[in-house]
Amino acid sequence: MTHAPFPDLRLRRTRRTGWSRAMVREHHLTPSNLIWPLFVCPGDGAEEPIASLPGVSRWSVDRIVDRAKEAAAAGIPCLALFPYTEPALRREDGAEALNPGNLMCRATAAIKQALGDEIGVLTDVALDPYTSHGQDGLIGDTGYVLNDETVEVLVGQALNQARAGADIIAPSDMMDGRVGAIREALETEGFGDVQIMSYAAKYASAFYGPFRDAVGSRGLLKGDKKTYQMDPANVEEALREVEQDLAEGADSVMVKPGLPYLDVVRAVKEHFAVPVYAYQVSGEYAMIEAAAAAGAGDRDALVLETLLAFRRAGASGVLTYHALHAARLLGA
Ligand code: PBG
Repeated sequence: MTHAPFPDLRLRRTRRTGWSRAMVREHHLTPSNLIWPLFVCPGDGAEEPIASLPGVSRWSVDRIVDRAKEAAAAGIPCLALFPYTEPALRREDGAEALNPGNLMCRATAAIKQALGDEIGVLTDVALDPYTSHGQDGLIGDTGYVLNDETVEVLVGQALNQARAGADIIAPSDMMDGRVGAIREALETEGFGDVQIMSYAAKYASAFYGPFRDAVGSRGLLKGDKKTYQMDPANVEEALREVEQDLAEGADSVMVKPGLPYLDVVRAVKEHFAVPVYAYQVSGEYAMIEAAAAAGAGDRDALVLETLLAFRRAGASGVLTYHALHAARLLGA
């Protein structure tokens, strides 16, 4: 295709006015593209600010219902829940994950009771908020995270969450075979309509620090998660992870972290015709907040530009701690 040369071709012509820019805009960001991660804590009427995630708090079950109502009113379709488990309940085997009365189940049930299908609830499957060692699975004598033994517990955790009313089960543990095992158990136990969004390409990242503060696992964790989370150097391996999870019955897949991994989002989207989500993780959120606080850029503009970048890369949606703020900016 040959184009007319300047001055017949002036690419600035369509950029001149707002209405024209709107007409030629290739990608859009709406509140329906946002998933809001929320942290649940014990207590009643409680709000606990998280120092390393400025502007983000843990909420007790009663108050998380209010956050869910705000999210639904702002057009956010789905919440992602994570618990802060009290230290006395953290065990080597993460057994609290299987307790039908645990914080996750209570929060899920309370939100579903108050809002029904006005908003979706996505629940995280992994043991790190419940283990005394902060790893996502069971550990052997050497500290190595055991795969098949962990998968068995994750299946129980997923069923526990489904019974509480979870709409989407999101395994973030990176064990092999867990999607298939969870899918089979959901089918068998009468939860065939519960979705699975797998954290398919989850990297062993330095961007998770504030999250570990939020769920209280940072101080407990010895070592790292490199024997199960992916090497940041790899992208072909991400495609294999996605292929595997889809074959095992995942409805949608996730890439995590977000902004530094947009090439992975793009690669996954090009190879598989499925909804792909990206998780703009806690360290990314903290970087944007720090940049804005330091006067490096306008906070609202930074938030909207980064979220739009996920859409351009091919993401159906983004898990972001900025979700409520962004949804309100978009709705205004
Ligand atoms: C753990 C989990 C992590 C996050 C979500 N689920 C941390 C980790 O893998 O150590 C990180 C989210 C964030 O940083 O915002 N299963």
